Amino acid sequence: MSENLIEVKNLKQYFPVRAGFKTLQLKAVDDVSFTVGKGETLGLVGESGCGKTTVGRSILHLYEPTAGQVFFEGEEITKKNIAEMRKKMQIVFQDPYSSLNPRMTVEDIIGEPLDVHKLYSNKKERRERILDLMETVGLNAEHATRYAHEFSGGQRQRIGIARALAVNPKFIVCDEPVSALDVSIQAQVINMFEELQEKLGVAYLFIAHDLLVVRHISKRIAVMYLGKIVEIADADELSDHPEHPYTQSLLSAVPIPDPKIARERQRIVLEGDVPSPLHMPTGCPFRTRCKYATEQCAKECPTLKDKGNNHLVACWNR
Ligand SMILES: Nc1ncnc2c1ncn2[C@@H]1O[C@H](COP(=O)(O)OP(=O)(O)O)[C@@H](O)[C@H]1O
Ligand SMILES: [Mg+2]
Repeated sequence: MSENLIEVKNLKQYFPVRAGFKTLQLKAVDDVSFTVGKGETLGLVGESGCGKTTVGRSILHLYEPTAGQVFFEGEEITKKNIAEMRKKMQIVFQDPYSSLNPRMTVEDIIGEPLDVHKLYSNKKERRERILDLMETVGLNAEHATRYAHEFSGGQRQRIGIARALAVNPKFIVCDEPVSALDVSIQAQVINMFEELQEKLGVAYLFIAHDLLVVRHISKRIAVMYLGKIVEIADADELSDHPEHPYTQSLLSAVPIPDPKIARERQRIVLEGDVPSPLHMPTGCPFRTRCKYATEQCAKECPTLKDKGNNHLVACWNR
């Protein structure tokens, strides 16, 4: 059996997009590879639109991948076994307002996966499991018959997490699970994810556009830009020694509490906009905004290279 829980190999997700009379391929995810260990968290960061959600959804076959493979404990996930695989892998969505039916009771939302996978033998067992899950995520079990719309954003996200946990998964894609929440609530929900991991040994792909959010919870972090992973390293290594110019700019925008260090560090502001994924630059996707870009960068796209310490960077100049 493989040591990795999840292995993503050369994943591509292209969406056909009509442009006038032509159909163009929007390369939302373009040749992405990474692994997630058992009980571990891999953070996935990058600006809005770089393909993070698409990676998460493609792993769960919510989109049929254009190319590439995803393995769960060494077994390839396919159209045929995906129904069975969904007992082992789940997703928590970004927006707890649109991802939960407001007219369903909490009990029925959490009970749905139990029904789908027939995980109880009688009504009593179903109900006990639901109440148990509510407690696990810090919800008052007495509120089981209330409707989703009666809950706050943070509580709704807890309902979403309870629903994901219902099948006892080993892996959860957490797609910006705190981005829609008030800052004051974000830390509570992140702490809960960590506690659940300790208790249940579940692994996460933890997606965020904010590096601060993932740095705290992740063992390793992958940085995405325009459909590609440009850097992967252990969370501390990435924060302390970012190699890729894009990661450096992301980190330079993270506030530092120490004013002395903050003064010494220069904020790197990227020029220009992210190119459209419909009109990708030749070579390295980042070169149009990179101050180190050379001729080679326009010709050929760099692939991830190990710089030692399990620190992978895709850059010709590193
Ligand atoms: N179903 C889809 N059809 C066409 N384009 C899509 C679809 N989903 C996402 N995209 C495009 O793919 C790119 C990546 O989107 P997404 O994965 O949502 O990025 P992120 O989660 O990092 O914000 C964007 O350009 C987006 O417009
Ligand atoms: Mg997204």
